[in-house]
Amino acid sequence: SYNGLGLTPQMGWDNWNAFACEVNEELLLGTSEKIVQLGLRDLGYKYVILDDCWSSGRAANGSLVADSKKFPNGMKHVADELHGKDLLFGMYSSAGEYTCGGYPGSLDHEDADATSFASWDVDYLKYDNCFNRGQFGTPETSFKRYKAMSDALNKTGRPIFYSLCNWGQDLTSYWGSAISNSWRISGDITASFDRPDSRCPCDEDDYDCKLPGFHCSIMNILGKAAPMGQNAGPGGWNDLDCLEVGVGSLTDDEEVAHFSMWSIVKSPLVIGADVNKLDSTSYSVYANPAVIAINQDPAGVPATRIWRKQVPQVDGNGKGEIQLWSGPLDNGDQVVALLNGASIPMTMTAKVDDIFIDSDEVSVSSWIAYDLWANRLANSTASSIVQGGSLDYSKYYNATELPYASGLAKNDSR
Ligand code: GLA
Repeated sequence: SYNGLGLTPQMGWDNWNAFACEVNEELLLGTSEKIVQLGLRDLGYKYVILDDCWSSGRAANGSLVADSKKFPNGMKHVADELHGKDLLFGMYSSAGEYTCGGYPGSLDHEDADATSFASWDVDYLKYDNCFNRGQFGTPETSFKRYKAMSDALNKTGRPIFYSLCNWGQDLTSYWGSAISNSWRISGDITASFDRPDSRCPCDEDDYDCKLPGFHCSIMNILGKAAPMGQNAGPGGWNDLDCLEVGVGSLTDDEEVAHFSMWSIVKSPLVIGADVNKLDSTSYSVYANPAVIAINQDPAGVPATRIWRKQVPQVDGNGKGEIQLWSGPLDNGDQVVALLNGASIPMTMTAKVDDIFIDSDEVSVSSWIAYDLWANRLANSTASSIVQGGSLDYSKYYNATELPYASGLAKNDSR
């Protein structure tokens, strides 16, 4: 890790998906209280991240000023309150003249702003890409803007997790880990599962999408993540954006699939929902310790997409896909996800040869498959992936009729 942080993907909450610019002290402190009460902090959701729209401008001396209507007691007070609850405080700025919401950005103010953040005891910075004065379009121009803040944060001497938000432009995934702890790989997520999504201007194979900031579906972002796992690992992660579980119109199965996939590719797990309004299903998705453990696995190896097959969609939404993803875990277990993005039940077969690169060396009889969701969503079709939690693995792993379900296999032979 370039600064000692981010040895596993960051976990926390960010207000953007549910509240956008409606931020204030009450929201952050009320949310933090609820995060503790719900047990989410103790499951690992430590960073409470204040997104855009918190400032009122710059003081005469050039330093950023918190909006005194929204934050009457200032930012240090918010940090103190969060730290008192054993939580960490994240803030937001942009590597541009303004933030995406039109508030002052930190381009050419890196040292002053990093100094302010450190003096407020901030633990995390999300650093956006709007109003970048045309300083993008090549890896060099973007790298320079993002490195300036990286250096400035380091100079403060305070450990500050550094989270890039340049939407996967200019090959961030290849240089992100040199200067940061995570980097976004796409435009903004929206609570829509399917690919393609007409609201997303970025084709999933356009890895260097130049159309920033818009509405990518979950399948679309996963498509972008698929070839990028090799660039992530302990210290620096591909960020698939904040979670939409409990935010909008996703079905229960879609929420399970969304959370499963973000977990296995080692994306940050940042809750995007209003935690005061989480229904029991969304809560149980965020609070599944077994799936969180996959995300926080010390080896930090993102699962890869092994195959994808196009299948017809029946809902008029164009193409659909089924996909198999898998990856190794630190203790020798293997995570497997059967991802159904078809919008209809599909039969999916994952062969041992598909799951293990060196399948000749795998003694299949020593493997047992567990469904890590089976005890979580009792009525979900996901629980039918593995009948009773064990399965004859000798031939293949066969799942039928699974709208958006994810199966996770585990070696229990030790
Ligand atoms: C951009 C980012 C979002 C959010 C908004 C705030 O769109 O990608 O995650 O931070 O700006 O304005």
